[in-house]
Amino acid sequence: MFVFFNGSILEEDKVRISPFDRGFQFSDGVYEVIRYYPKKFFKLDLHIDRLKRSLSEIEIPSPAFDDLEFLLMELISKNNISEELSTAYIQITRGYQYPRRHNYSNDLVPTIFISVEKFPRKKDEMIDGIKVGIGEDTRWPRCDIKSTMLLAATLLNHRAVEKGLSELILHRNEKITEGTHTNLCFVKGNSVITPPLSNFILPGITRKVVLELCKVHGINFTEREISLSELAEFDEAFILGTTKEITPIIEIDGVKTKFNKPGHVCRKLQTEYSRLYNG
Ligand code: PDD
Repeated sequence: MFVFFNGSILEEDKVRISPFDRGFQFSDGVYEVIRYYPKKFFKLDLHIDRLKRSLSEIEIPSPAFDDLEFLLMELISKNNISEELSTAYIQITRGYQYPRRHNYSNDLVPTIFISVEKFPRKKDEMIDGIKVGIGEDTRWPRCDIKSTMLLAATLLNHRAVEKGLSELILHRNEKITEGTHTNLCFVKGNSVITPPLSNFILPGITRKVVLELCKVHGINFTEREISLSELAEFDEAFILGTTKEITPIIEIDGVKTKFNKPGHVCRKLQTEYSRLYNG
């Protein structure tokens, strides 16, 4: 596998990262995951904007990213996946610092790593829907930063998957935030409802695109606080994310929902979303 590492494209097993890299020792870094639909990366400009913001929020100097699209296409081509539904993973850490200290010097050189991989979509989940659970959001209160510090999210997700659940509806004090790696939308009547942007959720690119689709296609939407107690009243629910796109929820563990199959608002948005990358 060919990857990009600190300025060069090389084979993955040639990459050498110091154990004193702050990414390794403190999860001191940020990342992005971007969808590649043959032959284009989807909403690359929005992912770059979010990456720059994440870097700036934790005071890591940002690279220019001028040649990022070229570089990503080069990786796709070198790995022979030009015709495959794929993803790019970009990670930037604060870099090497010795000796290990919590506080960082301001002159560190960031470590930049990019890989691409074939990443087919889970068609059955998108068509038939998924079962999710409910979990307490135990992450730090800066979930708007796409940090590699994902331990709370990975533990929550792992436990959910072990119970046969695809995702969790996370909440803080009974107010719904997002999933472990997705944003959440609900439907009541014909209106889409989603938690507002705040420090407690990631400003998802898919969320942004879906709300724009609602605008264009005359679907009402509200960004507002949602209580767990409302789950039993909704007519539809779905998760949003780069790899999950728009995936319907058909069951919420422990909740008697009004729905048990994907609804028409979800289907309409799925159709319109797929037109964006096919068109
Ligand atoms: N996850 N919320 C969280 C906590 C996420 O980690 C993600 C993305 C999203 C959806 O954002 P977007 O639509 O921009 O992908 C929401 C990525 C894909 C991941 O960690 O693999």
